[in-house]
Amino acid sequence: MVAWTLVVHLCGIVLWVGGLLVTAVLLSRHAQETAPEARAALSRVERKTMRALADPGALLAIAAGITLIFTNRSYYLHATWLHFKLLFVLALIVLHGYLGIEMKGMQKGSGSLTSGRAWFLFATVLVVFLAILIITLPGEVYLFR
Ligand code: HEM
Repeated sequence: MVAWTLVVHLCGIVLWVGGLLVTAVLLSRHAQETAPEARAALSRVERKTMRALADPGALLAIAAGITLIFTNRSYYLHATWLHFKLLFVLALIVLHGYLGIEMKGMQKGSGSLTSGRAWFLFATVLVVFLAILIITLPGEVYLFR
């Protein structure tokens, strides 16, 4: 049961983080594009990567993460590494919402996102993701026991 829940957790993470990173790259290209047909095509792909990858991925990762906590509540709810992890998960959720807002702005043509800021968002998602991995894997073993 725990092993299968971990499989769902990891699949969700791949879709979630992959979807956010691809959307940030598409937004950086969109910010430089002037041709209306190319902008419309980029908008369609951005909507796909958010709605078909990042959104369901986030739901799967969070639902499976909560299920994992319930498999051993007395340990996890007192584990300091998990508290740190959840802070960074919250940061990832905020970044997810912010990318969604910037995506809608670009679609309406009212967005002020620059290519540089889209790359900055890409790098921030990557750093938060790496922080979560480090807190979850070496963090659980070495840092917070
Ligand atoms: C992008 C976000 C996340 C990443 C990158 C991530 C990463 C991981 C990884 C790599 C594992 C496997 C650890 C192992 O088997 O040793 C894991 C396990 C786990 N995750 Fe997450 N996770 C994320 C989100 C969440 C959320 C939102 C929750 C809770 C609501 C959560 C709770 C857990 C729990 C309880 C485990 C089992 C830990 C263990 O005892 O090994 N995770 N996570």
